[in-house]
Amino acid sequence: TIDQLREQRIDAEERFASDPHRPRYHFLPPANWLNDPNGPIWFDGRYHLFYQHNPAEAKWGDIHWGHAVSADLLHWEDWPIALAPRTDGVDEMGCFTGSAFVQADGAPTIAYTGITSAPDMPGGRRENQSLAVSRDGMLTWEKLPQNPVIAAPPEGLRVTGFRDPTVWREGADGSWYMAIGSGIEGQGGAVLLYRSSDLLDWEYLHPLMVGDAERHGAMWECPDFFPLGERQVLLVSTLGREMYLSGGWSDEQFATGAEGWVDYSPRFYAAKSFQCPHGRRILWGWLREGRSQQAQLDAGWSGVISLPRVLTMLPDGTLACEPAEELERLRAEAFAPASLDLRPGEERAVEIQGDCLEIGAEVTPARGGRFSLSVRCSPDGEERTEVFFDAHEESLGIDTTRSSLSPEAETRESAGPLRLAPGKPLRLRVFVDRSVIEVFADGRAAVTERIYPSRPDSVGVRVTAVGNGATVQRLEAWRMRDIWRHTGTR
Ligand code: FRU
Repeated sequence: TIDQLREQRIDAEERFASDPHRPRYHFLPPANWLNDPNGPIWFDGRYHLFYQHNPAEAKWGDIHWGHAVSADLLHWEDWPIALAPRTDGVDEMGCFTGSAFVQADGAPTIAYTGITSAPDMPGGRRENQSLAVSRDGMLTWEKLPQNPVIAAPPEGLRVTGFRDPTVWREGADGSWYMAIGSGIEGQGGAVLLYRSSDLLDWEYLHPLMVGDAERHGAMWECPDFFPLGERQVLLVSTLGREMYLSGGWSDEQFATGAEGWVDYSPRFYAAKSFQCPHGRRILWGWLREGRSQQAQLDAGWSGVISLPRVLTMLPDGTLACEPAEELERLRAEAFAPASLDLRPGEERAVEIQGDCLEIGAEVTPARGGRFSLSVRCSPDGEERTEVFFDAHEESLGIDTTRSSLSPEAETRESAGPLRLAPGKPLRLRVFVDRSVIEVFADGRAAVTERIYPSRPDSVGVRVTAVGNGATVQRLEAWRMRDIWRHTGTR
């Protein structure tokens, strides 16, 4: 069946070849809907990525677990659907987000949220936690007969939701832990902590963390919890942006020190990380669309997985991310590197052109000025997407208000804090992949957007110094390869 799936992928990429918005080097399913990355794991020499998937339509619904496998973190092979809904009393209405881990006997295991029909509940559905095991190296998955292993939220707790388990093993006695996304009514988003000795019987311990609804929302989805450097990190999806908390973890208690945004845009959501050999911690997020549902249905696909991001912990508890170094292997022809000085208010078009690019820049903006690098610019500048660093506000962002002339495209400005080290230039890496733009600054901050330029000639790049001047010490760029090309055509 993997051969059949390869044929289907070739057909799909041929069918979508003329779609100017479909990314060429980001993972997405052959067709139809994708949301959260699920259960990323490195197993038996390969990277496995699962994802929330509606195989029938380019809109959310009838949620399955899609599955893709990669040897190099760049090129993907589609594997059979891992989990399909419709097991009565367990998941007849959907197999929601979860995680993957390996048991002591080597069996790969998935923990996920089963959705059952419950006319008396809000939304007509009830959430439980269930397990599935693979005995054939992750090709097929068997749901456990004991499902659900956690049938309902803790007795007496009024919750806003109960889903998206993440599981790990820890301690001298090898206890299993499960953290579940939730929210406590009247308080805020929360993560609930459970413990088990056999993965089947689970004891509720206490909230791992409770937020403040005013600041960080009433429901936290998709928790992820892991050690990084000297600290412990909790990621939660706040129904807006993706938040991290970093701090200490001992005696089953999490004490937070620092917090911040994993990405400055709500376009990057439901992120999930895993540990690779050699100790790297890699994160993927869902890059949701920024255009109307009708436009998504017409396109026949919706949702993209972000580039793999490597997480590190800075000494002050800040979570930093950078694109995985493997991505350098996608670089094709290079543009001639340039350096230039921009006078106050000056804008210049540069030689770089394309809609599948990596652009690197090292820039010193004059004190108090704003530097911007605009991509997907039409020759007259009517369409353009502006990546900016504001030295006065000390902020990094993307402005998509002029990205598209099409009324179907949503526009916004997404930004967050970025303080440069004294005397150090701004280091930017900008990845453009048709409708995707991912920006990494200073090996630390990230901001992502989705854009849908309407003009085929919106492929230019410009640099601008607003208010004050800027020195661009280095500007370099590469065309990026198509990751499906190697799959071959018939
Ligand atoms: C996050 C989310 C999860 C849920 C899944 C359903 O985007 O809402 O909380 O499990 O999507 O597809």
